[in-house]
Amino acid sequence: MAQDIVIAQNQGVLTVTLTRTAKKNALTNHMYDELADALERADTDSSIRAVVLRSAGNTFTAGNDIGDFAEQSADKGAASAEEKPVQRYIRALVNSSTPIVAAVQGQAVGIGTTMLLHCDYVLLTEDAQLSTPFVSLALVPEAASSRLLTQRIGHVRAFAMFALGESLDAQSAVLAGVANAIVPAAELHEQAQTIAAKLSAQPAGSLTATKRLMRDVEPTLEQVAAESALFVERLASPEALEAFTAFREKRRPDFAQFS
Ligand code: COA
Repeated sequence: MAQDIVIAQNQGVLTVTLTRTAKKNALTNHMYDELADALERADTDSSIRAVVLRSAGNTFTAGNDIGDFAEQSADKGAASAEEKPVQRYIRALVNSSTPIVAAVQGQAVGIGTTMLLHCDYVLLTEDAQLSTPFVSLALVPEAASSRLLTQRIGHVRAFAMFALGESLDAQSAVLAGVANAIVPAAELHEQAQTIAAKLSAQPAGSLTATKRLMRDVEPTLEQVAAESALFVERLASPEALEAFTAFREKRRPDFAQFS
């Protein structure tokens, strides 16, 4: 089986690269587990002082694998209390005490955008498009984005992203404070490594404490839990099944059939 994630450590920097390019780096359960493992490792291995999240190909990530969504939707146990790999990854992001640098090119859909709200330094290419089309899939926002994105860009723009799937282009993302800078595509990975190397040369205890002070971990985890409960409910809805089926069949979903 092709490797969907490549993880490499160079000095103090752990670089995590999504490599499922044939599927636009859509994230599967297995990939979420690997991502969570990497973040947890970064927090417990003192030789790791910064993490870079990046992707191969022309798309940062198409978000959650919709085939996996469809399976969970059909699975009557979808509402079980057992933690899903995506929840584990989100929790690892929220709890992460290691600085995370994200390097984003092309589309960053769904969790591809919401994960950026938990990163500490975000570089974009000019063609980056951030989108969170949860309602179009009959779902609700996750990763505390219903609060964090709204805080960053304001209610009306966040609502348009969630409810209508409007995207945020690179310049707007930088202006809104969702990202630090736009860099040429050919330099994206190199510049991300440079930032991570600079961070890893800083005093680690001070960095960790600063990150912790800047992020409200407990309220964020509470928001994640509130969203997750609704997400699981929506995932099992007939509307969601229609959305996932329509994606597989490469057609527009028909939500008018549901009251
Ligand atoms: N889950 C599963 N497979 C996905 C996927 C996803 N989220 N996104 C893309 N793919 C697959 C496509 O089905 C296609 O597979 P195929 O070649 O076997 O038919 C392949 O990746 C290429 O995707 P394609 O749509 O042809 O690429 P594109 O460049 O035209 O468009 C996107 C790229 C990301 C805009 C588009 O794929 C898309 O909108 N994907 C869904 C995004 C989404 O709604 N994610 C969930 C968010 S909560």
